[in-house]
Amino acid sequence: MILDGKAVSEKRLEILKEEIEESGLYPRLATVIVGEDPASQMYVRMKHRACERVGIGSVGIELPADVTTERVLEAVTRLNNDPDINGILVQLPLPAGVDTTRVIEAVAPDKDVDGFHPYNLGRLFSGTPIFAPCTPQGIMTILDEYKIPTRGKRAVVVGRSIDVGRPMAALLLNADATVTICHSKTENLEDEMRRADILVSAVGKAKFVGPEMVKEGATVIDVGINQDEQGKLSGDVDFEAVKDRAGAITPVPGGVGPMTIATLMENTFRAAKLRTCDNSTVR
Ligand SMILES: NC(=O)c1ccc[n+]([C@@H]2O[C@H](COP(=O)([O-])OP(=O)(O)OC[C@H]3O[C@@H](n4cnc5c(N)ncnc54)[C@H](OP(=O)(O)O)[C@@H]3O)[C@@H](O)[C@H]2O)c1
Repeated sequence: MILDGKAVSEKRLEILKEEIEESGLYPRLATVIVGEDPASQMYVRMKHRACERVGIGSVGIELPADVTTERVLEAVTRLNNDPDINGILVQLPLPAGVDTTRVIEAVAPDKDVDGFHPYNLGRLFSGTPIFAPCTPQGIMTILDEYKIPTRGKRAVVVGRSIDVGRPMAALLLNADATVTICHSKTENLEDEMRRADILVSAVGKAKFVGPEMVKEGATVIDVGINQDEQGKLSGDVDFEAVKDRAGAITPVPGGVGPMTIATLMENTFRAAKLRTCDNSTVR
C-alpha cells in the first residue's frame, strides 16, 4: 500500500478550510526567514500559499543573512506581543551567526506552531501535547488516515533531531507503540530496524534503507529529502527495492512532505482557537 501523503494533505486542507470558515476566526501566521537560502525561501512561499488556500492570514518577516541574534530576537518579540498574530514560524536552518536555540526559546509557547520550544517538547514528552512538531505530527495523521495500528507495535525511529526523530518517538509512544530511537552511534542498527513494525527513517541519506533492513509487511515512513546532482529528489528509502517487502510505504516526493505544511496550518488554527477569548481574532 502506498501511503499517499499528498492526497491526505489535500483532504485535511479542505476540511480545515471549512472549519476555519465556520469558526468565524481569522487565524494569522507570521513567518521569519533569515538570509536567502533558495530551499528555505521555497518552503516559506509554500507555507504562505497554503495559508491563503485555507483562509489563514500570513505575514512574512525577511532579515538579511548577516543579521545579529539580537535583531532576530527583537522581531520574534514584536510578533509575540502582536495580538493579531496567532502563530510564529522561524524558518530553519538559521545562518551560523544566529543562535538558533535562543531564537527557538524566544517564541511564545502559545504561538509556537512549529512545536520546537522546550515547553511544547516537554508537554509532548509528558504525554500532554499542545503543539507537536509538524513533520512527525503529519506522519501520525497519515498512520491514522490509513488505519495503521500503533498500539503495542514495535516502532523504530532512525534519527534523533528535535524537529523529527525525538518528537516522532514521543508521538508514537503516546500512541502506545513500543519505541526505539536509533542514531549514528547505534550498534547493530540493521537488527534494530528489522524488528520494526513501523520504521521511520529521518536520516537524510539517499538509499539508506534497503530491503534487508525491513521486516516483511512493515510500515515504512520515509522522512528524508535528498537531492542528487541533477536536482532529482529522493528519500532515505530505496523505494523500488523496499516497496514489495513493506506492507505500506510513503513515497518521496508525495509522502511525508505535504503533510508537514498541512499540519502547520492545523496548528495555526489551533493556536487561534486557544485564544478565542481575545476579540481581536474574531471577524
Ligand atoms: N519531509 C519533511 O517535511 C521533512 C521535514 C524535516 C526534515 N526532513 C528531512 O529529513 C531528514 C532528517 O532531517 P533532520 O532535521 O532530522 O536531520 P538531522 O538533524 O541531520 O538528523 C539526522 C539524524 O540521522 C542520524 N544519522 C545520520 N547518519 C546515520 C547513520 N549512518 N546511521 C544512523 N543514524 C544516522 C543522526 O544521528 P546523530 O544524532 O548521532 O548525528 C541524526 O540524529 C533530512 O533529509 C531532512 O531534509 C524532511
